[in-house]
Amino acid sequence: MRMRKKTWAEPFISENRDYVLDNPSEYKGKWREKLNCKGLLHVEIGCGKGDYFIGMHQRYPEDGFVAIEKDTNCAAVAAKKALQVDHESTIMINMDACNLEEWFDKNEIDIIHLNFSDPWPKKGHAKRRLSSKSFLDMYRNLLSDNGEIQMKTDNRKLFEYSVAEFSKNGWIINEINVDYRAGDVEGDTMTEYETRFVELGQPIYRMVLKK
Ligand SMILES: C[S@@+](CC[C@H](N)C(=O)[O-])C[C@H]1O[C@@H](n2cnc3c(N)ncnc32)[C@H](O)[C@@H]1O
Repeated sequence: MRMRKKTWAEPFISENRDYVLDNPSEYKGKWREKLNCKGLLHVEIGCGKGDYFIGMHQRYPEDGFVAIEKDTNCAAVAAKKALQVDHESTIMINMDACNLEEWFDKNEIDIIHLNFSDPWPKKGHAKRRLSSKSFLDMYRNLLSDNGEIQMKTDNRKLFEYSVAEFSKNGWIINEINVDYRAGDVEGDTMTEYETRFVELGQPIYRMVLKK
C-alpha cells in the first residue's frame, strides 16, 4: 500500500541529515563506533514507518540499529518518530538496499531483519525480492560468522520462495514457524504491517537463517 505524498518529508529529511544519512559509505567498517554500539549490530531493510527498529532499540539498548528505507515518505515518518525517543544508537538510510555492500564491511553486521518485504509477485520482478540470490550473496558477505537473517512475512508465496532460495544457496534454517504469533513470543517487536495482519487473524510466517 503506497503512502500519500507528504510535502514535509523531503525538507524534514534534508534538515535531519545527521540522522538520515546521505553518505552511508563514510561509516563502512565504523558503524559500531558511530552508534556507540556495545552489543549486536542490526540492519533492518525496508523499515517502513519505523515501529520495529524503534521498539527493538528500546528492548535492546546496548545494540545498534541501522534502518534502511527507500521510500522518502515512510523514511520521514520513521525518522520523525525515532528522533522523539532515545536515538543515540539508531540511524537511518533513505536509499535502496541494493547498494548495501558500499555501506557495510565484510562480516560487520550481526542481524539482518527482513520484515514484510514487498513480495514482487511477477516472475519478471523476482530479482527485486529481498530474498533473491543477489541479495543473499550480499548478506552472506556482510554478516558476521555467527550472524543471522530474521525474516517475517504474511505472504505465503514469498515465504515458500524464500525457503527455496535460502536452501538452494546453502543457508541453514535455524528456526521456522508458519503461525509465529499463535504462540508466546518473547524478545520481539511487532511491525506496522504485522500489527495489522495479526488484528485480521492472519498467520505470520517467520524464519531465522544462518550462513
Ligand atoms: C510492505 S512494507 C513493510 C514495512 C515494515 N517493514 C512493516 O513490516 O510494517 C515494505 C517496505 O520496504 C521498503 N523497501 C522495499 N524494497 C526496498 C529496498 N530494496 N531498499 C529499501 N527499502 C525497501 C518499501 O519502500 C516499503 O516501505
